[in-house]
Amino acid sequence: MSSRTPPSPPPPGVPAAAHPEHLGHVVFITASAAMGGFLFGYDSSVINGAVEAIRDRYAIGSAELAQVIAIALIGCAIGAATAGRIADRIGRIACMRIAALLFAASAVGSALPFALWDLAMWRVIGGFAIGMASVIGPAYIAEVSPPAYRGRLASFQQAAIVIGIAVSQLVNFGILSLADGEQRGKLGGLEAWQWMLGVMVVPALLYGLLSFAIPESPRYLISAGRIDRARKVLVEVEGEHVDLDARVAEIDRAMRSEHRSTFRDLLGGRFGFLPIVWIGIGLSVFQQLVGINVVFYYSSTLWQSVGIDPTSSFFYSFTSSIVNIIGTVIAMVLVDRIGRRPLALIGSAGMAISLALEAWAFSAPLVNGKLPGTQGTVALIAAHVFVLFFALSWGVVVWVLLGEMFPNRIRAAALGVAASAQWLANWLITATFPSLSDWNLSATYIIYASFAVLSIPFVHFFVKETKGKPLEEMG
Ligand code: GLC
Repeated sequence: MSSRTPPSPPPPGVPAAAHPEHLGHVVFITASAAMGGFLFGYDSSVINGAVEAIRDRYAIGSAELAQVIAIALIGCAIGAATAGRIADRIGRIACMRIAALLFAASAVGSALPFALWDLAMWRVIGGFAIGMASVIGPAYIAEVSPPAYRGRLASFQQAAIVIGIAVSQLVNFGILSLADGEQRGKLGGLEAWQWMLGVMVVPALLYGLLSFAIPESPRYLISAGRIDRARKVLVEVEGEHVDLDARVAEIDRAMRSEHRSTFRDLLGGRFGFLPIVWIGIGLSVFQQLVGINVVFYYSSTLWQSVGIDPTSSFFYSFTSSIVNIIGTVIAMVLVDRIGRRPLALIGSAGMAISLALEAWAFSAPLVNGKLPGTQGTVALIAAHVFVLFFALSWGVVVWVLLGEMFPNRIRAAALGVAASAQWLANWLITATFPSLSDWNLSATYIIYASFAVLSIPFVHFFVKETKGKPLEEMG
């Protein structure tokens, strides 16, 4: 950077960071950090392609299978709860490198397990890395973004998650096609499902490598007393014209005056936690109880159970993740225009209707192991409509709200509690789906539809609009 001729100063009123040279660099830094989000999406949904092969190879029933799949989410909850502290102690970049290493180790370990418990252990380790990535990505991006671009840059993380989900489904589909549609088909000495889990080593190593190309967060550097380095990074991300002394003093002052929130700050009122904390937990839990991750973790199995051949069912898992990306882009455009509450309400209504249609479709008795024509088509369309409504509403809105709805004083701790509640609710749905669907698939969808219906009065009565409100006014 320093070898370049300094660019001419911006005209008055234009922020220094608007200089395209710096913005391009900041976008590169943000995209590199968002690789953690990509791995988060990739690792949590890649299992979709391996579920049936694992059941077959280890000759296990639905309940045991569900434990192996869901146990990774316990790792996620622990990773999310500890990442903040690790990042404060050793820095954001070191934290990313640890996550990258754990992702890579988990990819190789779960591709070459010698027993079921070994596979489960590697999935927990991968889960821990996902939990870390779910906290460190957004925190780092917020810290390196020039203030004028923070909102847009922050949405990279959610976009990276949904792209990670789509790429994992595409890779699974490609591997399955190479193995002639057999999840246990041999490909160069390994079975197809082992390749699916192992391929993640590539983005994991890329994430690790990229971490060497991006700077440590100026906020962390200042807190660690490395002021000279912090000044260099501020020039790198905010431009040559930034008033360094003022910026360093400003960050330092903000950090000193910042109250470090702890778990105890969240307590109060009649019900243990403060009401606002319960609302955050409610948002997280409803986001999961509508059953969204059943689509991303189990859809291949679901479609095969109603008579769709493995290759087509993998293909439909991929198309749902494309719909997920489209819905996410729509939400990113709408969230600041029409607001969080209307989007959430529209999403809940759309999800309730599509889940009810799904329940109706799966209530038909199978003919020769297949859903009859009309119900089969309705089931497929309704699943895609459900993903679309989720993505354009609760998928983005909940993460946006969790980042902004809490008063400054409790933000960090409240976010940690709400994120952990989300992983636990995700675990509950993931761990119970195989047994519930063995029992009654249609009734299972009625349960998810009921949560979508209940989420409407929840948003109506408890969730306040935060669109356009300064963070300092929350609470
Ligand atoms: C949200 C949810 C996550 C889900 C994803 C699907 O980020 O928190 O659990 O997998 O959306 O797009």
